[in-house]
Amino acid sequence: MPLVRLLYTSKVAFDARDRAPMDAILHTARSFNMTHDITGLLACRNGEFLQAIEGPRKIILSLYQSILRDTRHSDVQLLHFSEVSARSFYRWSMGFIQESDVPKNINLYFGGGTEFTFDTMRSDHAMSFLLYCAQRDLIAA
Ligand SMILES: Cc1cc2nc3c(=O)[nH]c(=O)nc-3n(C[C@H](O)[C@H](O)[C@H](O)COP(=O)(O)O)c2cc1C
Repeated sequence: MPLVRLLYTSKVAFDARDRAPMDAILHTARSFNMTHDITGLLACRNGEFLQAIEGPRKIILSLYQSILRDTRHSDVQLLHFSEVSARSFYRWSMGFIQESDVPKNINLYFGGGTEFTFDTMRSDHAMSFLLYCAQRDLIAA
């Protein structure tokens, strides 16, 4: 089964300061992903999610269908889907990047300007952002 990576962004549909729904999402994600060879990262910032999931194609596509139906977020926008030769986020069943761990001037990393929203971001920049966080260990346990 080919290995694929999928990236999407969406809008958080609960109070993002509330830890309980976030913990519930991470709990489900980590236990399912661990038993289905899925790895990835989930970032939450400014009321938006950015997630990368990687794993066997069939499982990733079926998980994506469940994610699309999930009412804890809305406006899901597919940013990227491709076969890959290796995983980028193999260290995490679902690593979490919280707002407070992202440097305030992260927009400079991508060329400047004041706008840094997942919603308007180029898909290669979204991937670079996740790699940036992974390489600097900005991932919460
Ligand atoms: C932002 C977000 C990210 C999620 N990531 C995952 C994930 O990586 N793995 C997972 O199993 N469920 C994840 N979920 C939960 C799924 O959307 C869904 O609740 C779960 O797969 C159960 O689906 P089902 O009710 O269709 O069986 C996520 C949900 C949200 C809102």
